[in-house]
Amino acid sequence: MQAKNVFILAIESSCDDTSAAVMQNGTVLSNLVAGQKVHESFGGVVPELASRAHQKNIVPVVHEALKVAKIAPESLNAIAFTSGPGLLGSLLVGTSFAKSMAMALQIPLIDVHHMQAHVLAHFIDDDKMKKPPFPFLCLTVSGGHTQIVRVKNYFDLEIIGKTIDDAAGEAFDKAAKIMGLPYPGGPLIDKYAQQGNPLKFTFSKPNIKGYDYSFSGLKTSILYFLQKAVKENPDFIKDNLADLCASIQQTIITILLKKLELAAKETGIKHIALAGGVSANSGLRNALLQREKTLGWTAYIPNFEYTTDNAAMIGIVGYYKFLDNNFADSNVGAQARMSW
Ligand code: KG4
Ligand code: ZN
Repeated sequence: MQAKNVFILAIESSCDDTSAAVMQNGTVLSNLVAGQKVHESFGGVVPELASRAHQKNIVPVVHEALKVAKIAPESLNAIAFTSGPGLLGSLLVGTSFAKSMAMALQIPLIDVHHMQAHVLAHFIDDDKMKKPPFPFLCLTVSGGHTQIVRVKNYFDLEIIGKTIDDAAGEAFDKAAKIMGLPYPGGPLIDKYAQQGNPLKFTFSKPNIKGYDYSFSGLKTSILYFLQKAVKENPDFIKDNLADLCASIQQTIITILLKKLELAAKETGIKHIALAGGVSANSGLRNALLQREKTLGWTAYIPNFEYTTDNAAMIGIVGYYKFLDNNFADSNVGAQARMSW
């Protein structure tokens, strides 16, 4: 079914961002994100606080998204929401809100897989982004996931590699925490790394078979290295912050790219995309662009606003599912863990 104009309200609440977007077909009319500063001093997301903040934010964020889009609730054709994976208490807020609103408006409900949404963010209609052709490989790197996904079409996504322990975003955040930086540390490491020497310090890299990843050894290697260095010079981290950040970032990128290169070589796929919060990392984005020259890849890099958690990516999956007549039934629920 190809309706002329499909208006979808999308809601994302899987972790610590409350986001609402309004889509007109594949175009984003509004995409609002309310972050939660409350977790900063805890060094990570506190699930109880996250769900409480979602409850506080959801109504104003949805209201504002409709207002910015200049769309009345009665004009909506469907409501899409993240049903998982994520923090159960957080997911439940978005899920119950979406269900009640869809019921009140008597419009269909569309459940969306959060990780599929990170990948399909590439199909948002936006002049600054090019859409990858099928099949392509997507390195999906976030705070909770690290995956190499072979994308055959909008709904056929195969995970061919994944982390066996920490996610890449977790590696950034945990390294930042060890250095005394607030949560989430990934963007801060990126910022300080720009002034540093990526070759100054070396950290251990995993030796895992196939396309899988491991980041827990890196965290331990950073911890032991810094414990020893700080014993000798209590100001070691402060004195070397930029070089430490650049070296840690470089190590994570090298680990990520090694398996991605192997997957590209063995599958013969040269259309390579990045997705997820860590794809905001400037070093990773540059490394991918460099592979266009050295390995003949075509790189697909999302706009910054579609890298970290946002509802527009939920909306684009909602749109394709709408066209496919793939709606949720009324007993759909939130799921903390989910396969594709
Ligand atoms: O996709 P996302 O917003 O949430 C999850 O689904 O997990 O990803 C959040 C992760 C965090 O670990 C955050 O530190 C990381 O993405 N991140 C970055 C950057 N921006 C966000 N990591 C490195 N460099 C960045 N610029
Ligand atoms: Zn995410």
